[in-house]
Amino acid sequence: MKQSLPKNPVAVISGGLGDIGWATALELTKAGCGVSVGDVEASADLDEGIHYQQVDVSDEVSVKQWFTSVEKHFGEPASVIVANAGIVVLGSAMSASLADWQRTLGVNLTGAWLTARTGAQRLLDANMPGRIVFVGSWAAHAPHVKMAAYSAAKAGLRMLSKTMALELADQGILVNEIAPGFVDAGLSGEIFKEQPGLASSARAMVPNKQLIDVKEVAESIAYLCSSKRRNMTGSTLLLDGGLSARRRMD
Ligand SMILES: NC(=O)c1ccc[n+]([C@@H]2O[C@H](COP(=O)([O-])OP(=O)(O)OC[C@H]3O[C@@H](n4cnc5c(N)ncnc54)[C@H](O)[C@@H]3O)[C@@H](O)[C@H]2O)c1
Repeated sequence: MKQSLPKNPVAVISGGLGDIGWATALELTKAGCGVSVGDVEASADLDEGIHYQQVDVSDEVSVKQWFTSVEKHFGEPASVIVANAGIVVLGSAMSASLADWQRTLGVNLTGAWLTARTGAQRLLDANMPGRIVFVGSWAAHAPHVKMAAYSAAKAGLRMLSKTMALELADQGILVNEIAPGFVDAGLSGEIFKEQPGLASSARAMVPNKQLIDVKEVAESIAYLCSSKRRNMTGSTLLLDGGLSARRRMD
């Protein structure tokens, strides 16, 4: 097993048309990666030289088709895999419908597993090292009554990340999670738009009183994906201004 990533590794980012995903695509492109974004949303032409495929991460066939198309396009498997696609459906454990519960776990947990597993299998088949980053959340750490399914999915993702780190460590595939707090974009950006006033109360709740810029998340993902990281696996990089150090979130 070679330990070093290719000089210009191929990177795939699920949910790559979203705010964190797209910022990560630009950051990894800057770092010299060939980048493919997969997203359930249809894309207009991307003019940054970035490969795109429509994919539903909760559907195994669709995920496999994405990885096949990436290999065809770049001529090698993706050695950097960012499992980033996510959704939030607000609801408590008592009020959530079964459909919302299943959809939330299907994208955030099962979808991330399918993305990481499919990518890792291609690397194992090619005897190549790699980097997998799960985009988790502070919500994995502290119960939040309005986001029961999302929090449960992200908590599951944390254990999946550690488990895959153990399974793949001796194959040179490092697996880590990033856990952002309140990002001023993407899923929380949408909620802030729908419920004005929430952004300032969210900011007040964070120990360092800041919402997180999407670029800082992307830079931190790129850090975890770097071939310079040789011994970091099974870790969670908390990027939450101290939010998860608090005891309660409601
Ligand atoms: N924004 C935040 O405050 C925040 C905080 C912590 C963690 N996160 C995590 O960051 C990740 C990215 O979220 P974001 O904030 O950029 O939101 P976003 O809505 O901008 O991006 C999410 C992307 O995932 C895509 N997606 C949804 N379902 C999919 C599916 N079935 N298959 C493929 N793609 C699908 C969406 O189309 C969208 O482009 C998520 O995993 C989210 O849980 C976000």
